[in-house]
Amino acid sequence: MTGLFITLEGPEGAGKSTNREYLAERLRAEGIEVLLTREPGGTPLAEKIREVLLATGDEVMDPDTELLLVFAARAQHLAQVIRPALARGAVVICDRFTDSTYAYQGAGRGLSLERIATLETFVQGDLRPHLTLVFDLPVDVGLARASARGRLDRFELEGRAFFEAVRAAYLQRAAAAPSRYCLLDAAQPLKQVQQAIDALLPKLLELYRG
Ligand SMILES: Nc1ncnc2c1ncn2[C@@H]1O[C@H](COP(=O)(O)OP(=O)(O)O)[C@@H](O)[C@H]1O
Ligand SMILES: [Mg+2]
Repeated sequence: MTGLFITLEGPEGAGKSTNREYLAERLRAEGIEVLLTREPGGTPLAEKIREVLLATGDEVMDPDTELLLVFAARAQHLAQVIRPALARGAVVICDRFTDSTYAYQGAGRGLSLERIATLETFVQGDLRPHLTLVFDLPVDVGLARASARGRLDRFELEGRAFFEAVRAAYLQRAAAAPSRYCLLDAAQPLKQVQQAIDALLPKLLELYRG
């Protein structure tokens, strides 16, 4: 494995999708191959699983079903896209990854963290992101941005307590492994968020070039 695996995390409306292209362009300007992808999804089959996960409907999805679908999509994404890209030395930027599973299915849905960790190892082996940018912002700010974006998906329809738990889980995971996480204040104006991303570039390049 020669590439660099960067994940972008944070709740709805935090600015992950807005900033992923910005980060990719900064790295491409250095002559680096960047693969930009997202979860759940990232391959045609995994995108179909995403649709199942996000769709609202009459049948309540069992939390275990949700957890298994997330990891099923991840297995496909890793096999088809992420592992091959890392093997050829690319920087992979993934909009959400397993930290989302700990935050949403773990803290949000209340599923056991041990069970998630078991699936993480089953699906990923020892592959973990080299660096995770956590876009942190107050729940209200994120939800207001997400609702302004249009129709809400099955997760965005969750209540405030769910998103407070999601946010707390991200902060806790970042605090527990500070060398793997960079916390960004995502409530700032976009320009300042991008300046914070610029400030991370030397660290990313050093991690990549070794
Ligand atoms: N720093 C920011 N300040 C104000 N609005 C923002 C900022 N970052 C993103 N937005 C807006 O908030 C909405 C959600 O951003 P998005 O990147 O889709 O979030 P995410 O992918 O994390 O859910 C979009 O309409 C986007 O233009
Ligand atoms: Mg997004």
